[in-house]
Amino acid sequence: MGPATLAQVLRQIPPMHDENLLVGPGTADDTAVYRLTGDLALLATVDFFTPVVDDPYLFGQIAAANALSDIYAMGGRPVFALNIMCFPDCLPPEVMGDILRGGADKVLEAGAVIAGGHTVTDDEPKYGLAVTGLAQPAGVITNAGARPGDVLVLTKPLGTGVLAAALKGDLLDEDTINQVTESMRTLNREAGAAMTRFGLKACTDITGFGLLGHAAEMARASGVSLVFRYGALPLLPRVEEMAAMGIIPAGAYSNREYLEGQVGLTGLDQARELILFDPQTSGGLLTAVPSGQAGEFLAQLHSHGVTEARVVGGVVEQGSSLITVEK
Ligand code: CO
Ligand code: CO
Ligand code: CO
Repeated sequence: MGPATLAQVLRQIPPMHDENLLVGPGTADDTAVYRLTGDLALLATVDFFTPVVDDPYLFGQIAAANALSDIYAMGGRPVFALNIMCFPDCLPPEVMGDILRGGADKVLEAGAVIAGGHTVTDDEPKYGLAVTGLAQPAGVITNAGARPGDVLVLTKPLGTGVLAAALKGDLLDEDTINQVTESMRTLNREAGAAMTRFGLKACTDITGFGLLGHAAEMARASGVSLVFRYGALPLLPRVEEMAAMGIIPAGAYSNREYLEGQVGLTGLDQARELILFDPQTSGGLLTAVPSGQAGEFLAQLHSHGVTEARVVGGVVEQGSSLITVEK
């Protein structure tokens, strides 16, 4: 027998029996949730990755917005964060300083504080945060709360993976670069706050597994099927153009492969299909909203600056395919 895979090793770790661990490793949720008292829960999450843009300050902002997003997706509010930094000896220390400054500025914008961190020497820079947050246990939003009849709202446009690849290939104009970086560094705070005001029960943020990868987790956890309408999806500029040229990150293909046989797609060409699986950096929130509240919820998002938020589909009884995407 060969060496054990990571998945095999993880399976050997005894399951958690602490009844205060409300959300743990068993579900594909964004954040761990631990009940401290009847009306207070501690949230903890960690995220870090390699640079998606050249500008170190901007990279710091994007990495921090991405890490903080997991707290917002669960209906929490971030309290403090720890820096995680991998940095090569060969780069000037000012670059590290700029990354950390970007992260700290985003954490400050989130109303939280950087409380420390840790740095290791590594060949390639990596940066992110371990974030601690708070929520009321009853207000915690998981990916298990979607109900048939709910509508699905997505709060940020898709396509950051495709456009990051296009950016590396020097294929983008200034205006498109600005729009994609602006989207990635925008906090999901307003969207999270609106979910809490409306008492919503189901959410996931859209990151590395793409729209359908994260939607599939929600469908499975909730015991429902989801229907999306491609034409309703908000897209960043030039995403379809780039995808049609074959500028598609490898992750989109592996995300699609992972859901093989569980997604029904009708009338979409290859490029559009892969956009549905495009790995997102600091993507938006996908939330299920009782249909009677959807109009008001969307109106509040728009008036709070979440201008790209759209109704993109709906929740139905569990059917033969986990997810269906119509044209
Ligand atoms: Co997440
Ligand atoms: Co995450
Ligand atoms: Co240390």
